[in-house]
Amino acid sequence: MHLPLLEPLGAHAPLPVIARRPAQLVGNTPVLWIDEPFAPPGRGFYAKLEGANLGGIKDRPGLHMVCAARRRGDLAPGAPIVESSSGTLGLGLALAALTYGHPVTVVTDPGMEPSVVRLLAALGARVDQVTAPHPEGGWQEARRERVAEWLTRTPGAYCTDQYRNPDNVAAYRPLAAELLAQLGRIDVLVAAVGTGGHSAGVTAALRASLPELRLIGVDSVGSTIFGQPAAPRLMRGLGSSIHPENVDYGAFAEVHWVAPAEAVWACRRLARRHYASGGWSVGAVALVAGWVARTFPVGTRIVAVFPDGPHRYLETVYNDAWCREHRLLGRQPSEEPDEIAEPGTSVVTRWTRCGQVRDPLGRDLAKVTKAGPR
Ligand SMILES: Cc1ncc(COP(=O)(O)O)c(C=O)c1O
Repeated sequence: MHLPLLEPLGAHAPLPVIARRPAQLVGNTPVLWIDEPFAPPGRGFYAKLEGANLGGIKDRPGLHMVCAARRRGDLAPGAPIVESSSGTLGLGLALAALTYGHPVTVVTDPGMEPSVVRLLAALGARVDQVTAPHPEGGWQEARRERVAEWLTRTPGAYCTDQYRNPDNVAAYRPLAAELLAQLGRIDVLVAAVGTGGHSAGVTAALRASLPELRLIGVDSVGSTIFGQPAAPRLMRGLGSSIHPENVDYGAFAEVHWVAPAEAVWACRRLARRHYASGGWSVGAVALVAGWVARTFPVGTRIVAVFPDGPHRYLETVYNDAWCREHRLLGRQPSEEPDEIAEPGTSVVTRWTRCGQVRDPLGRDLAKVTKAGPR
């Protein structure tokens, strides 16, 4: 269906941005209204398109963590940076390295898309891929051990440690300010969780003005973050095989786990209907935000953070042969998620919702929260 353009093109075009340095192009990302097929006409959600950053959402913490470490004196001028990343923070750190003048090593695993490995190398980063998962902590623990080796043998090297670094969380204050300026009122925020950085940072900053804001977390099946047992995961970006300290468990009203076939369905529908799409976390977040738009009262203002764009997923999410090989095609998600009362009551393998959110390691029992009324 072709919609008439409501206004002549360019009627409200913003002034062109002229940057002197690439880091000045990070932030001020646009918001796009998403409705069908995720929600019926008249209902929908606002997608914050973080893929409009040069690298993706992690340009923000990449720049902020490096800047803060330099300011504190933890990172000396020109000293090496080393970090574990599935890709997006690697791109952000490559930008920070170029901006502030540091060599950077990105430790990753064989699941990193070859296009991202090549892009990181082109941007000047060294990529070090571990070859075997840790017996208990999976690929992420193996990567962390490799980072520790780098730190031991490289004098002056600094690890941004995105899983535990409060600067990762603080980096998202501007994103929250942008949303407030763009939308004014927000009732529900839907965010993917990997390190926990953007869900914690955006929510904390928004709640200063919007104390009733409801945060819905989106995780991958097979991820340990919200108390499920670790299992091999196809989806990258969201989910974890460790327990990141940056996850603000007390901030979440509920969590949804999404399976890869469901995320693929959502990514492809987004691309077809709205042009703007992305990878695993974008598909998973869109699926959940669409459900919120269908089931919460009319007029609820919903924001979903889309962390990146589709390009790095052309050989996975958007590749029919790859998806067929992994049995990801032709499975339309059900209209409603399954429900479990407690995160650990059963092992979830498809879209499932839980209204109890707590730290599976019990690190801060005061943060235990119950889902409020819908
Ligand atoms: C594409 C993508 N989506 C979502 C996330 C999760 O974001 P966070 O680490 O802020 O929880 C990440 C984290 O690396 C990511 O790369």
